[in-house]
Amino acid sequence: MTTSRIAWIAGASSGVGAECARRLARAGMGVALSARRAERLEELAEELRAEGAAVSTVPLDVQHSTSIAQAHERVVRELGPVTDLVAAAGLNAPERHWRDQSMAMFESVIATNLTGVAQLIDQVLPGMRSAGTGTITAVSSFAAWRHSPHAGVAYSASKSALKPLVEMLNTHEQAHGIRACHLCPGDIDTDFLDQRPEVPDAHARSRMLQADDVARAVEFVHTAPARVCVDELVLSPVQGADPLAP
Ligand SMILES: NC(=O)c1ccc[n+]([C@@H]2O[C@H](COP(=O)([O-])OP(=O)(O)OC[C@H]3O[C@@H](n4cnc5c(N)ncnc54)[C@H](OP(=O)(O)O)[C@@H]3O)[C@@H](O)[C@H]2O)c1
Repeated sequence: MTTSRIAWIAGASSGVGAECARRLARAGMGVALSARRAERLEELAEELRAEGAAVSTVPLDVQHSTSIAQAHERVVRELGPVTDLVAAAGLNAPERHWRDQSMAMFESVIATNLTGVAQLIDQVLPGMRSAGTGTITAVSSFAAWRHSPHAGVAYSASKSALKPLVEMLNTHEQAHGIRACHLCPGDIDTDFLDQRPEVPDAHARSRMLQADDVARAVEFVHTAPARVCVDELVLSPVQGADPLAP
């Protein structure tokens, strides 16, 4: 398949990132799959190659800038310049209350959810500027849109900071044809829920967003006409019960 668009997906080994890779590959983009678990990336790559997609697996750790830089260099070498970036890698911890959190974990969450996203964007911007086009999605959280007391201190702070990061990106880079989206999903039935202090059961999960619901929104953002910037998108599961009911 010849592809004029190359999507780099960080966090592609599971959940939302994996579904984004499926959607963007099926939309005709070449896809570069990144995360730490290389074997998961290979399994997904095999599936997508069987469908005719151009795929590279590029393991990385978003907490390390050199790992991101080396991965980006490989993506460009193997597939070509990145036209689309989906930053979906994320981290939380069960210790959500200020009294329980450690500063080491705080730094780790910020390194993954905020600095890691900035580093990924920093890698792709020069190529996007040269090409005069680029679409970026920062997978943030409902917790960045509305205060969510159970989301955790570091997680809420890291995701909330993505909003101004994306706004700055749009302010500074739209003149170069680059657009970015701050994507804020609510609860999604993925492995991420294992990082909660109380892991939801199957019934609770069945009422949540599914990873493909979020990937569908990402596909919408990335396949919109070049004149359209989807600045921010908020998705939440439809509530099954009226919270104000007696
Ligand atoms: N699930 C929810 O309820 C929910 C709600 C709102 C927002 N979100 C956000 O959605 C995004 C995707 O999460 P998900 O729900 O799809 O959960 P998930 O299935 O657990 O996916 C998390 C992804 O992040 C990757 N990752 C974590 N740390 C990394 C690191 N240091 N370097 C590289 N990759 C790393 C993981 O891959 P490896 O472990 O292989 O590295 C995995 O691919 C996250 O940013 C999360 O904050 C989730």
